[in-house]
Amino acid sequence: MRRRLQLLAASLISLFFVAGGLYFGGDRLRQVPRPGFLGHYEHEKPPEKPVKEPTQDPLIYGPILAEIDVRTFVDAILYRKPTHLVNLQCPVINNTRYESLRTADASHPSLRYFFALNLRENLHVLPRLLGSVVEVIQFLGPQHCALSIVEGNSPDGTREVLAALRPGLDALGITFSLQSSRIDPSTSDRIPKLAELRNLALQPLIDGSGRANKGTTIVFINDVAACPDDILELAFQRKNLGADMTCAMDWSHIRSIPSFYDVWISRDMNGDSFFEIPPSGSWDWSTFLFWNANETRTRFSNFRPFQVFSCWNGAVTFGAQPILENLRFRAANLAAGECFQGEPQLLCKDMWFRGYGKIAVVPTVNLEYSVENAKDIKEKKGFATDLVAKQNLSDDMIAWQPNPPDMVRCMPSWKDQSWKPWNETLT
Ligand SMILES: *[C@@H]1O[C@H](CO)[C@@H](O)[C@H](O)[C@H]1NC(C)=O
Ligand SMILES: *[C@@H]1O[C@H](CO)[C@@H](O)[C@H](O)[C@H]1NC(C)=O
Ligand SMILES: *[C@@H]1O[C@H](CO)[C@@H](O)[C@H](O)[C@H]1NC(C)=O
Ligand SMILES: *[C@@H]1O[C@H](CO)[C@@H](O)[C@H](O)[C@H]1NC(C)=O
Repeated sequence: MRRRLQLLAASLISLFFVAGGLYFGGDRLRQVPRPGFLGHYEHEKPPEKPVKEPTQDPLIYGPILAEIDVRTFVDAILYRKPTHLVNLQCPVINNTRYESLRTADASHPSLRYFFALNLRENLHVLPRLLGSVVEVIQFLGPQHCALSIVEGNSPDGTREVLAALRPGLDALGITFSLQSSRIDPSTSDRIPKLAELRNLALQPLIDGSGRANKGTTIVFINDVAACPDDILELAFQRKNLGADMTCAMDWSHIRSIPSFYDVWISRDMNGDSFFEIPPSGSWDWSTFLFWNANETRTRFSNFRPFQVFSCWNGAVTFGAQPILENLRFRAANLAAGECFQGEPQLLCKDMWFRGYGKIAVVPTVNLEYSVENAKDIKEKKGFATDLVAKQNLSDDMIAWQPNPPDMVRCMPSWKDQSWKPWNETLT
């Protein structure tokens, strides 16, 4: 009850700040809401609130953790044992639809799917998120998959649960890399640190002594309450569409109706954000998605994949080839005058520059950052399995545009927006 009230209060505060456009008064990095990824619902906190001083080494187990029934989490994640923890029931995997993802093929590398996650204080989403990842890996064949998780600064027990997964993952034949990092993006240099953490999660793929090749698919997932079919559909559509990268749609519940969340990162093929944010920073127009892009809007409302300049949106799949060619997550080159932007947008920009511009959003995959809100978004949008059952696969095909938009909206902050050449500072 008390927690409910706190949540309610937090929501009201967030509504006030978002509506009033006052939230983004803090420092430059905090002008950008990135609640899902390693900073839960930062936009629900008033900006004046000082960042909590770490009371202990982020890599040392905290006393609070003794209270947690680690076993319950492990059982829920690895063996899908029904517990009070998991309260988003996902559809069963459609073997027919996703069979092609596990079909053996001589051209396939020994590592076909590499799952990468960065986690921080995500205890409550772990059963649903990792339960889905494990189920998908079991479906795809553990011998062809690897799981890489980077955690840190998680006094809530996330670390203990992750560490306790190892014997069970070993027994299931799942290659598991767990790294702990003290890098804390919530204090300063947010984007360079987030890029560093994402690259850390990719490191086992890079070090994997040739197990990966251009046939390897990287599945990079935020701290979202995803279902198995969300993950499989992203991988399936990458193959079906011949895409270099596929992204989900992610949502937030900071307003009374769900708002598309990754608006700072994502850009349509016209170079614009998915919805318009006025200089006040208000998200009032978040209901008018693709307001100035008719074709995209039509495809979006029909749950058809559509090409974009950039996306991330809670979960993505992309080919390992650009990474094997030394592409990495990075921060903007501010010294050269590059627009201040997030590391996923820069990844897409760099992919376009290297000729990997087949980037698509798959709008049948809808994600949220807590189990409760995921239930809500699935109720409102539908599970991927149910949505695709009504689709005709041939209608999904995208007429890929070979060229990116000339100009892309640059949003170092909501009140400082401009248009920049898509490839500025790249040579
Ligand atoms: C499973 O996928 C196949 C092939 O896409 C489709 O024909 C079938 O209707 C799907 N089944 C369910 C239960 O959605
Ligand atoms: C988009 O649709 C609106 C209304 O249907 C129409 O008036 C407008 O000309 C269209 N824009 C483009 C670029 O096709
Ligand atoms: C699916 O597309 C094919 C080819 O365009 C068409 O022949 C078929 O009638 C379509 N089916 C549905 C259910 O729309
Ligand atoms: C940037 O892209 C445009 C096309 O959109 C191209 O004309 C220009 O040469 C590119 N600049 C660089 C430095 O690659």
